[in-house]
Amino acid sequence: MIESMDLDFTGRRVLVTGAAGGIGSAMAEAFAAHGGELILVDLDAEAVAELAGTLGEGASFHQYDQSDAASIATLAAAVGPVDVLCNNAGMIEAGPYLEQSPETIQRIIAIDLIGPMLLARHIGEGMVARGSGVIVNTASQLAFHGSATRAAYATAKAGMVQFTKSTAAEWAPHGVRVVALAPGRTLTPMTANFLATEAQRSEALKHIPADRFGSREEMAKLALFLASDAASYVVGETLVADGGYVLL
Ligand SMILES: NC(=O)c1ccc[n+]([C@@H]2O[C@H](COP(=O)([O-])OP(=O)(O)OC[C@H]3O[C@@H](n4cnc5c(N)ncnc54)[C@H](O)[C@@H]3O)[C@@H](O)[C@H]2O)c1
Repeated sequence: MIESMDLDFTGRRVLVTGAAGGIGSAMAEAFAAHGGELILVDLDAEAVAELAGTLGEGASFHQYDQSDAASIATLAAAVGPVDVLCNNAGMIEAGPYLEQSPETIQRIIAIDLIGPMLLARHIGEGMVARGSGVIVNTASQLAFHGSATRAAYATAKAGMVQFTKSTAAEWAPHGVRVVALAPGRTLTPMTANFLATEAQRSEALKHIPADRFGSREEMAKLALFLASDAASYVVGETLVADGGYVLL
């Protein structure tokens, strides 16, 4: 008989990247509230230090740069064994593709695709060796729809979906689950510029049947579920949480 969902992370070390951001900080709070020992990492050292201070004695923090392979390797060596990786840090630079410089395009792919792949490579190696672990990658609804003005970002996030499936297939036999979360439009610092005016918000809502934006807490709850034993048979899947978004 099922008496309750198993969402307990007591004794598990949870690494959240982009933990200074909207969704990442909510993930960190959610895992901490469910017993996890948090390792908060971000480019913004001051912000993760501050958040770690609010999450109790078990929480630690590190600064790293997801665009830099050496920084990612240093981080992975510093954090030690990890039970859950929320591979969540990301950035967006929007604009018509023909107006984006080659450097910008490469930077988006470096941060939103290559960096998470390299971090998963380092952390996943330890998980496979120990025979347990869960990686929750953060993709995006745009992985499935594409978007004018977000070509490089959507491409990177589509890559994360296939990366999730492929590593899931390789590592499931070793007791490691890899899954992904694809948020829709969620109110965070990342979307603040795109949803700043009433006109921007009402235009965006035309495409969302739920008629509202997602919250950072809604995304964090799904990451918690995906990483938990309640989702123990979910392998390689990307959970889309977008209020029914469609490109109308
Ligand atoms: N907010 C949305 O509507 C939305 C929708 C779909 C997907 N996402 C994805 O969710 C994730 C979290 O986004 P968010 O909305 O919380 O954004 P956010 O901007 O609030 O947070 C992103 C965090 O990533 C960190 N970061 C950026 N570049 C970094 C780098 N080079 N090295 C290390 N850390 C870096 C930032 O410092 C920030 O703390 C991202 O992967 C984003 O692409 C967000």
